[in-house]
Amino acid sequence: MTIRRHIIGNWKMHFTAAQAAEIAGALAKAKPPADVTAGVAPGFLHLAQVARALSGTPWIVGAQDCSDRPEGAATGQVACTQIRDAGGVFAVIGHSERRQQLKERSPLINAKISAALEAGLVPLVCVGETGTERGAGLTVTVLDEQIRGAFLDLTPEQVGRCWIAYEPVWAIGTGQTATAEQIAAAHGHIRQQVVRGYGKPAETVPVLYGGSVSRDNSAEILGIKEVDGLLVGGASLKASDFTAIVGCG
Ligand code: PGA
Repeated sequence: MTIRRHIIGNWKMHFTAAQAAEIAGALAKAKPPADVTAGVAPGFLHLAQVARALSGTPWIVGAQDCSDRPEGAATGQVACTQIRDAGGVFAVIGHSERRQQLKERSPLINAKISAALEAGLVPLVCVGETGTERGAGLTVTVLDEQIRGAFLDLTPEQVGRCWIAYEPVWAIGTGQTATAEQIAAAHGHIRQQVVRGYGKPAETVPVLYGGSVSRDNSAEILGIKEVDGLLVGGASLKASDFTAIVGCG
C-alpha cells in the first residue's frame, strides 16, 4: 500500500521572529510535490505568525510539543486547542530532546497524544534508541517499550490518526545518518508492532525517518520502501535545503 509522503521540518529552538518570517516567506513561494504533505514546526512564539504566512499554500504548520492538559491553570504550557487556534494541525510528541532534557516519560507522552487527538491535532510521535541501547542490542526492546507506552489504551482508530517518526538518538544532529539497512529494519519493526497491536488502521500510519537528513541523503532515504517521509532538523533551517529535500518526496 502506498502511503502519502510526509516531510516535516523541526525548527527546534531556533530563529527570531524576523528570521522565522523570512524562511516562511521563502517556503510560501515553493510548491511541494502534489503527493507530499510538507510542513514545519516552528517554536511556539512563532507558530501563529508562520501559520499565517503559509495559509493559502499547501504547507502545513504544527507545534514541537503540546500540553496534556486542557486550557486553564498550567503555567508555561500550551494547550492543544490553543495550537489549533493558532493554525497548527500537528504536534511533535515525545521528541528525544524532550525525553532527555526534560525527562519526559511514556505516561506523559501517552497523555499528550490523547490530548492532541481530542483537539483534532495529529500527534507526530517520536521513538528511537540511544547509541548505548543500540550497542547493547536493545533497539527493538526500546522501540517496543516506547510504542507500547505511547499508545497505551488508545483505540485502533486513534492510533490510525497518528504519525510516527523513527529517530535514532545517535543520528540526531550528529551528521551520522543510520544506514539503509538499519532504517529499513527499524521501520519494518515499527510497522509490524503497530499493526500487531492496532490492526488495519495502523497499516497506513506514516512512519517518518529523522536523524541527520540532508539534501544529499534525502532521496536515498526516501527510496527505502519502509520509509514514508522525513522529520528534518538542522537541514530545515535553510529554505533552499529544505525545499530541495521536500522536492525529493
Ligand atoms: P537533525 O534533527 O535532522 O538535525 O538530525 C532531527 C530531529 O531531531 O527531528
